Amino acid sequence: MNYVLIYCVVLGIFLQSAYARYTSCGGGKLITVAVDSCPDLKNDSTAPCELKRGTNVTMSVTFSSVKDSKKLNAVVHGIIAGVPVPFPFDHPDGCDKSGITCPISTGQTYTYKAVLAISSSYPSIECSVKWELQDDNHDDEFCLVILVKIT
Ligand SMILES: *[C@@H]1O[C@H](CO)[C@@H](O)[C@H](O)[C@H]1NC(C)=O
Ligand SMILES: *[C@@H]1O[C@H](CO)[C@@H](O)[C@H](O)[C@H]1NC(C)=O
Repeated sequence: MNYVLIYCVVLGIFLQSAYARYTSCGGGKLITVAVDSCPDLKNDSTAPCELKRGTNVTMSVTFSSVKDSKKLNAVVHGIIAGVPVPFPFDHPDGCDKSGITCPISTGQTYTYKAVLAISSSYPSIECSVKWELQDDNHDDEFCLVILVKIT
């Protein structure tokens, strides 16, 4: 985790210009993306989404599914020099307490929720995070890149 965060400090300034606040990177259509700590989250803004240390942040993603799937697996990366590096997330099962009842069907709209604990030991940095929800075949049901700032 710290390894990822340190590189993010160095590269944050480049990443900021490379991405809007969030963008889709594959899978089905993103209908809404909401993070409770940044209520004005918009696709066309370049300001990062602020995450306060010592808080739990809830992210909610409404998307349309691209394939039927029995299982869903959340895969989270920090992006370092354009290369995704695995970012530990302690609740990868996208069918458990995510708001989604599995199995899912093609072409339906689902809302996925995840709670992130922002550790008070995290440094103040800006970083891009890639969040994927993958199906039985490891294909993306959604993929989004979001620019965040730990404050
Ligand atoms: C964000 O904006 C771009 C450019 O207007 C658009 O192509 C894209 O579909 C929008 N939505 C997402 C989720 O990236
Ligand atoms: C965050 O969530 C965890 C697990 O549910 C809980 O133990 C902790 O007290 C919460 N922290 C805050 C600041 O709400």
